[in-house]
Amino acid sequence: MPDPAAHPVPDPAALARDPGALADALAAISPRAAAQRDAIRVVHAPGRVNLIGEHTDYNEGFVLPVAIDLGIAIALLPMDDRRVELTLAATGETAGFDLDAIGPKRGAWIDYIAGTAWALAERGVPMQGFRGVLASDLPQGSGLSSSAALELASAFALSGGEAPPLDTMTLARMAQRAENGYVGVNCGLMDQFASAFGEAGHALLLDCRTLDHRAIPLADPDVALVACHSGSPRKLESSAYNERRSQCEAAVAEIARTEPGVTFLRDVTPAMLDGARPRLDPVVAARAEHIVHENVRVLEAVAALEAGDLATVGRLFYASHDSMRDLFAITSPEMDALVEIAAGVPGVIGARLTGGGFGGCTINLVRRDAVPALREAIMRDYPARTGLTPRVFEVTPSPGARRIA
Ligand code: GLA
Repeated sequence: MPDPAAHPVPDPAALARDPGALADALAAISPRAAAQRDAIRVVHAPGRVNLIGEHTDYNEGFVLPVAIDLGIAIALLPMDDRRVELTLAATGETAGFDLDAIGPKRGAWIDYIAGTAWALAERGVPMQGFRGVLASDLPQGSGLSSSAALELASAFALSGGEAPPLDTMTLARMAQRAENGYVGVNCGLMDQFASAFGEAGHALLLDCRTLDHRAIPLADPDVALVACHSGSPRKLESSAYNERRSQCEAAVAEIARTEPGVTFLRDVTPAMLDGARPRLDPVVAARAEHIVHENVRVLEAVAALEAGDLATVGRLFYASHDSMRDLFAITSPEMDALVEIAAGVPGVIGARLTGGGFGGCTINLVRRDAVPALREAIMRDYPARTGLTPRVFEVTPSPGARRIA
C-alpha cells in the first residue's frame, strides 16, 4: 500500500477549482513549464445537468440543460511543436499524440482529446501542441457530461489556451462531431451545447432543429438545484442509447407513411401518434410517446419558469421521470428510489433522472431551506433500500468553457 503521507497527492477535485494550484502541478512535472511559469494557461469547461427534455435532442426537439460549477480544468504550456501530452492529476497517468498523426481511437481517455483535434482539423482550425495537466471535480460516472467538458476544454487547450476561432455553436457541433465521428458515441448536441454556452444563473433552452437558443433565468435565491448520485456508476450504455435512437427512427418511418411531413419525432403531435398507434410495435410506440410529450413538457417548463410557477415545473419533473421509467425505460430501481425518497421530503419541488439514463444522477428542484432535509432523507433511506452509498450535492448554474488563467 502506498503511504499517502509520504507522497502527499493534492486533491484532484480541488485542483479543478484552483487554477494556480493546477499550474503548480504542471510546473512540478515539467521542467519546461517550471521555467516558463508565466506562459502557463488554464482552461475550464463545465459539466451539465439537464432540467428537462431527455433524449429529445437527436429527435430534433427541445432541451433545457444547465452548465454547472463542476467540470474539467487543464493547465497547459503551449508548445511550438505538434506534440500533445497530457497528465491526469488524479492518477499521474500520461498519454499523448502527434497532431500530424492523430491515428485511430485507442479505447482510452486520450481519445476525447485526440477526437477533438481530429474534428478541429476537419474544420481547418489551426492547432498547436501543449504539455498539460488535467483535473476534474465531476464525480466519476455521474452522467454529468464529463465527455463534453473534456472535449470543450481540449478545444481550448489545442488552441493555445484561447477560444478556438469558431462561433460558439460551431464549437459545440465540432465537439459533438468528435464524439460521434471519432470516439464513436452517437450522442446528440445537448451536452456540448451546454458546456459551450453555459451562463451563470441561467438554464439554456435549445431548439435542436433550428439551433435557436435562449438563456432562461433561474433567479429565485430561495430555490436550489441538487444532484443526487445513485452511487452505481453510469455504465456508458451506448448500445442501449443507440437502440433508443433506432426505435425513435422506426417510429418516424412508420408514421411518415401516412404523414409525409414527418422527418423526426419533433414533427409528431400527440394526435398523429394516436392515429398511427395501431400500426406501431408497442415498444416503439412507447418510446415515441415519451419523446412527443417530453417536447411539450420542455416548453411548458420554460413557460412556468418564466411565470415563476415552480409548482408546475415540479409536476413536469415528476411526469418526465415517470415517462422515462414507464415509456422510454431508461431509469433503474436505484434512480426511481432517489426520486421517490425526494418526493416525500417537504420542500422538494420536483425530481427526475437527468441525462442519458441507466444510472447516474437525479436532479432535484428544492426550496433552499429543505436541502438539509433532502440530504438527510437520501443518506438515511437510500442505502437501506439499495445497499448503495449515494452522494448529494448542490449545483450552481455556471459559465461555459473559457480560459480561467
Ligand atoms: C446523453 C447524450 C445527450 C442526450 C442525453 C439524453 O447525455 O450525450 O446528447 O441525448 O443523453 O437526453
